[in-house]
Amino acid sequence: MAPTSPIPVSSDAPSSATAPCVAISGAGGSLGRALLRRWHGRGARLIALSSSEAPITLHCAAGRAIPLRQVRWQVGREEELRSLLAEVDVLVLNHGLNVHGDRSPEAVLRSLEVNALSSWRLLELFAAVARERQLRPGQPRPELWLNTSEAEIQAAVSPLYEISKRLIGQLFSLRSLDLADGAGGPLRLRRLVLGPFRSELNPIGLMGADWVAGQILRQAVDWNCGLVIVTPNPLTYLLMPLATLGRWGYMRLTSAAAAAAAENGDGQLRNRGR
Ligand SMILES: NC(=O)c1ccc[n+]([C@@H]2O[C@H](COP(=O)([O-])OP(=O)(O)OC[C@H]3O[C@@H](n4cnc5c(N)ncnc54)[C@H](OP(=O)(O)O)[C@@H]3O)[C@@H](O)[C@H]2O)c1
Repeated sequence: MAPTSPIPVSSDAPSSATAPCVAISGAGGSLGRALLRRWHGRGARLIALSSSEAPITLHCAAGRAIPLRQVRWQVGREEELRSLLAEVDVLVLNHGLNVHGDRSPEAVLRSLEVNALSSWRLLELFAAVARERQLRPGQPRPELWLNTSEAEIQAAVSPLYEISKRLIGQLFSLRSLDLADGAGGPLRLRRLVLGPFRSELNPIGLMGADWVAGQILRQAVDWNCGLVIVTPNPLTYLLMPLATLGRWGYMRLTSAAAAAAAENGDGQLRNRGR
C-alpha cells in the first residue's frame, strides 16, 4: 500500500482547532525548541513533552509568545501519555542524552532507557492509540517521527550513544514492518537522521538547531520523505538509505508479524504431535 499523503499544514497560519496537533519530546532542548518554533510557523497546535518542570517559553520572529501546552512525562511512565496521544496528529520522538565516555552500569541503563526503550514504548503506545482512532474519510494517518542520529551507522566518539541509537534505529526498522502505513499499519513513520548540530548534548556541532529544524520540516512535510537526512557528511546520504533498505529486506525475510508467528508456532506443535 502506498504511504498516505502528509498531514496538511499551511505556511505561517495561526493555530486553529483544525490545525494539526504536534507533540514533541525533548521539548526543552535545542532541537525540541527549534522544532516547536518551526511547527508554530506552519500553524500547528503544540504540545511540548518535557521531562523537566522548567517552563518552556518561546517567541516567534515577531517577538510574540508562542502558545503551547507543556506536559511533563518521565521515561518508564509512557503509559500515562495514552489519553494525550489520542489527540496528537504528529508525535516527534526527539528526547535523548549522551553519556560520552562513561561506561558504568548506570550509564548503560540510562542510555538504553532514554535513547532506545522509552522511544520504542512510545512508538507502540502511539500505534495502539492510532489503531483505535476513527479517521474521517481522507484524513491522514497519525505520524510518528523518530530522531535517531548519524550514530546509527557512524562513529560518534561515544560508544553508549552509538549502541543506544543503533538499537532504537533497528527496532524502528523491525516494527515498521507492522506499524507503517505502507505495510497496512496505523502510522506514517519518518526517521530523522541528523549530523552534528550545536546543543547541550553536542556543544561543538557544526550546524545550528534552527536551520536543522527548518530542513527537517522541508523534507518531511513539503517533500513527504520517510527518511529525512540533514548532515554535512555526504556518506550518510549514501549509506543510510542502503542500511535501511538492507535491514528491511533482512528483517522481512527472517521475522514474522505476531499473528503469523503464532500460526507458525501452532503448525510446528501440530507437526510435532503427528
Ligand atoms: N546535537 C547533535 O549533534 C545531534 C545529532 C544527531 C541527533 N541528535 C539527537 O537530537 C535529539 C535532540 O538533541 P539536542 O541536540 O537538541 O540535545 P539537547 O539540547 O540536550 O536536548 C535533548 C533533550 O532530551 C530531553 N532529555 C534528556 N534527558 C532525558 C531523560 N532522562 N528523560 C527524558 N528526556 C530527556 C531533555 O528535554 P526535556 O528537559 O524537555 O525533557 C533534553 O533537553 C536527541 O535525540 C539527540 O540524540 C543530536
